[in-house]
Amino acid sequence: MQRTKIKDLLTGAEAGNQVLLKGWVRTKRGNKFVNFIAVNDGSTIHNLQVVAEADKFSEETLKDVTTGAAVVVTGELVASQGKGQAFEIQAANIEVVGKADPETYPLQKKAHSLEYLREIAHLRFRTNTFGAVFRVRNTLAFAVHKFFNERGFVYMHTPIITASDAEGAGETFQVTNFDLDNMPRTEDGKINFAEDFFGKATNLTVSGQLEGELAAMAFSDIYTFGPTFRAENSNTARHLAEFWMIEPEMAFHDLKMNADLAEAFIKYIIRYALENNRDDIEFLGQRLVEEDKAKPQNERQEMTLIEKLELVVNNDFERVTYTEAIEILLNSSHYKKKKFQYDVSWGIDLQSEHERYLVEKHFKKPVIVTDYPKDIKAFYMRLNDDGKTVAAMDILAPGIGEIVGGSQREERLDLLVERMKAVGIHEEDLWWYLDTRRFGGCPHAGFGLGFERMVQFVTGMGNIRDVIPFPRTPKNAEF
Ligand code: 4AD
Ligand code: MG
Repeated sequence: MQRTKIKDLLTGAEAGNQVLLKGWVRTKRGNKFVNFIAVNDGSTIHNLQVVAEADKFSEETLKDVTTGAAVVVTGELVASQGKGQAFEIQAANIEVVGKADPETYPLQKKAHSLEYLREIAHLRFRTNTFGAVFRVRNTLAFAVHKFFNERGFVYMHTPIITASDAEGAGETFQVTNFDLDNMPRTEDGKINFAEDFFGKATNLTVSGQLEGELAAMAFSDIYTFGPTFRAENSNTARHLAEFWMIEPEMAFHDLKMNADLAEAFIKYIIRYALENNRDDIEFLGQRLVEEDKAKPQNERQEMTLIEKLELVVNNDFERVTYTEAIEILLNSSHYKKKKFQYDVSWGIDLQSEHERYLVEKHFKKPVIVTDYPKDIKAFYMRLNDDGKTVAAMDILAPGIGEIVGGSQREERLDLLVERMKAVGIHEEDLWWYLDTRRFGGCPHAGFGLGFERMVQFVTGMGNIRDVIPFPRTPKNAEF
């Protein structure tokens, strides 16, 4: 008999069918005549109830059916009396293929805190919450590829070990093949990091953008989707040392086209998740409703997660320039009542409290902020005619803050070189990048979407550590 996944039973099943179910026990309850065993196989948030009459099975078998055990069940599908489920299995045979000792199995039936589950990240996939989160993550990843491939973009694999710091922010992890007993030394005896990767200084990539630009100058439209690394020692709910980024790069695109594409892309992948993982998102939304009950009335969410997401996909994002955003902040009662921790003036890097004010209090929807002061942005962004701002864009999302960073790129060789000099990047180090401006360069633009921040947005999870299977944060790399 072929195995049936629970997800398929939700749609194509009929009472009377014989089924083979394989999965893990979530709970067992009952009395001395009958046991009700909830089994989950990861295909959906829903469990399938297995009804096991005590006289049909040995005491031994039923004793081993405990929370966490792996079981193989055959039986007949029957209409269920239980609420919320159309079917259950009348078990004919139950095999416990992997026991889970109730004395030591850490995931007992009770609800566990997210903090505790982070400490047992190797087991947390087996909870409803993380099952839902990682199925949504999977769907979003699939939607990313679908969106770009439907539009003729070429998926480009950019290197993880590289010699450049694309963002020029000095937040790279060194890569080394050093023999610890025999490290190359400089004349004064210090370790020579310039030679750490077989004689060359290298680091883990912070972004695939520069290589992506090279490819865009041949394929017109490309995207990358891979892990990136930042050695920023920040312990926040929005930062990881290893995160995944999607970076499209488009030749013959300006900032406006870049913003239009980013908005269409974000809406597309959210819509795709709403269509394909509605049960999971509903479950995660319900989690937030429960969480809210412990909060005072005025701190509770006005909308459910699904309502929030539908609002985002059905409405235009707001678009403002950085200069307009600063004006809004300066004119806000929040500013006048001195409620911001950081001061506001033209030229500052927007702090997350400022970003969140703009999206959550002022516009109440995602906002695309463009044309930032050149001094707070990366060297490759195109200088505007005013000589002081660049064609940059950040997309800010409610509850998250910055979710996308992008720009039109500086395609004019002289201006690019001048900017690199100003920020201390050597031309020799990026000669290959500059070649794209020497040979057939053209106006082009792109952006980077932080994948985990996107998953946070769609799942409503408050901490970025809970949307990547094995989070890498300072001092955190156990598994
Ligand atoms: O704004 P960033 O640094 O932009 C770039 O890396 C550009 N090269 C992108 C491009 O134009 N191709 O990063 C892009 C996004 C941010 O908006 C944020 O969502 C996410 O990446 N991000 C992080 N996510 C998790 N942890 C971190 N430490 C992150 N740093 C950036
Ligand atoms: Mg940024």
